[in-house]
Amino acid sequence: MASLALYPGSFDPVTLGHLSVIRRASGIFDHLEVVVVHNPNKNSLFSAGERIDLIERSCKELGIQGISFSTLNSGLLAAHARKIGAKTIIKGLRTSADLDYELQFASMNRDLENVETVFLATEPEYSQVSSSLIREVSGLGGDVSKHVTACVAEALREKFTK
Ligand code: PNS
Repeated sequence: MASLALYPGSFDPVTLGHLSVIRRASGIFDHLEVVVVHNPNKNSLFSAGERIDLIERSCKELGIQGISFSTLNSGLLAAHARKIGAKTIIKGLRTSADLDYELQFASMNRDLENVETVFLATEPEYSQVSSSLIREVSGLGGDVSKHVTACVAEALREKFTK
């Protein structure tokens, strides 16, 4: 049976670090689905639809192919994984603090639906970048074009000059 993995996250917005994980995970599994998790209690800069659109366009920009996309607006990621037959969740790890934080999710997702989590070490050049930092720096007028694709940099400029 073909292997299907999920790569979940807020992706608000997607960074080059996320895209590196997407490219590498897509080389390991037969199929990768990127899941944009929308948390209604969290104030996001981009809507779930905008986030998916930016990931799709960023993948095109970088020549990453064969990925599918979905949004999870409510409910458990583990239940979504069971429903679509995914046995693996992918997470990128930038630092040991990420690992400490992620272990609880990995353990809970295994307990809930026997879904395993595979961690990919972030490439060193992306280890200090996060979506929240990108939002903050961009919102204060800083140049984040080293850390995001051209379409994301443009979308950030549009958001903050409105
Ligand atoms: O990019 P983020 O915000 O660090 O991603 C966190 C995310 C969305 C992967 C996590 O919050 C999640 O899995 N949410 C889905 C709801 C869920 O299943 N919660 C229980 C986790 S064990």
